[in-house]
Amino acid sequence: MFNLFKKKKEEVKAPQFLPLKVREVVKETEDTVTLYFEQPEPFLDYKPGQFLTLVMEFEGKEQRRSYSLCTSPYVDPFPGISVKRVPNGKFSNFLNERVFPGKTINVLKPLGNFTTDFHSKNKKHFFLVAAGSGITPIMGILKSVLVNEPNSKISLLYCSRNEKQIIFKKELDSLVEKNADRLEVIHNLSQPGAAWSGLCGRLSKETIFEFVQKAESEPEFEKEYFACGPEGIMDNVEEVLEGLGVAREKIHRESFYSAAADKAHEDAAHGITGGLLTRDVTVILEGEESIVTVSPDKTILEAGLSQDLNMPYSCQSGLCTACRGKLLSGKVKMDEDAGLSPNEIEAGYVLCCVGHPLTDDVKITIE
Ligand SMILES: Cc1cc2nc3c(=O)[nH]c(=O)nc-3n(C[C@H](O)[C@H](O)[C@H](O)COP(=O)(O)OP(=O)(O)OC[C@H]3O[C@@H](n4cnc5c(N)ncnc54)[C@H](O)[C@@H]3O)c2cc1C
Ligand code: FES
Repeated sequence: MFNLFKKKKEEVKAPQFLPLKVREVVKETEDTVTLYFEQPEPFLDYKPGQFLTLVMEFEGKEQRRSYSLCTSPYVDPFPGISVKRVPNGKFSNFLNERVFPGKTINVLKPLGNFTTDFHSKNKKHFFLVAAGSGITPIMGILKSVLVNEPNSKISLLYCSRNEKQIIFKKELDSLVEKNADRLEVIHNLSQPGAAWSGLCGRLSKETIFEFVQKAESEPEFEKEYFACGPEGIMDNVEEVLEGLGVAREKIHRESFYSAAADKAHEDAAHGITGGLLTRDVTVILEGEESIVTVSPDKTILEAGLSQDLNMPYSCQSGLCTACRGKLLSGKVKMDEDAGLSPNEIEAGYVLCCVGHPLTDDVKITIE
């Protein structure tokens, strides 16, 4: 459809790519590297637990992926991300194999709500659950608590496949040694070696319950909970905490991968579109209205980008909220909504990267 109001890319403020120069590459395990970047000018402004969006070109097309900062702005002189290989993954294998000090990578400014406010007066017990590469944002949070909150303590339950796959093992051991009264790290290995005497196997709800129930006997500590790892583990953590009556706002979770969004992309590529119809959607971006025609095999974001609208995005999986908009009218179906809190969903927020219009009057404003 011809669109008089369409806001072309060149008319819109281009996204602010920030070029970051790789300073150091550290091999953490056989399939994970940490990339430390030189500080840009001014210094990178981020909160512990937030992520960077890396922008690179593959197969002639600009692509983006989100990577959590594993560093703390209060402790580490240089910002860093840790990247674990995914079989056949474009970014994760490239970053593991082909990045060396001196290389410049474009990023978008840090984003994300997997964080909290740190204050020297806080007296909290932080319960952190991480699995695999899910340790990255947890590491930034953990280090920030240790340095900013002398009266707070931390318990970390960290799941890895085996001894060799434990990312940041040395750094964690050293932090425990220096903060023995405030930091406890419990490892759970799914496939440990014969000599392993710690927790092992699939992380059960019973183990999670035993881990968090220590909080019951500590009324003097405020509690806060962070979980980052596969959806199954985080669902179990949330279920156990809800069973214990923990308030929703005290539980933070971050997902790196959505099987539901992945399946929806696959289905769309194979023409399976679940009865969706082509509809026009009104998108308000930086105050200007555009009409975006969304076909059944596209998300609102994909349709907007293909019409040269400069819509914000990062993960394209419904997890990071970079593409969040507020629904002013109509109905939208989301393939995934893990990135949104129940309050945001109730308030009418939608994620354009996984959103499809269900009615003809969909109007979304992107702030
Ligand atoms: C907020 C956020 C923070 C993140 N932080 C980190 C981080 O700190 N460290 C890190 O290593 N990753 C992190 N990720 C994941 C990262 O963004 C990429 O998704 C991941 O590196 C795979 O990208 P790729 O280009 O290598 O794979 P792709 O080329 O995108 O995918 C290749 C294939 O693998 C599948 N796939 C992708 N990821 C997974 C998975 N996890 N499990 C199973 N199948 C998968 C894809 O569907 C596809 O079929 C984060 C994601 C989000 C949303
Ligand atoms: S781009 Fe991450 S939720 Fe849409």
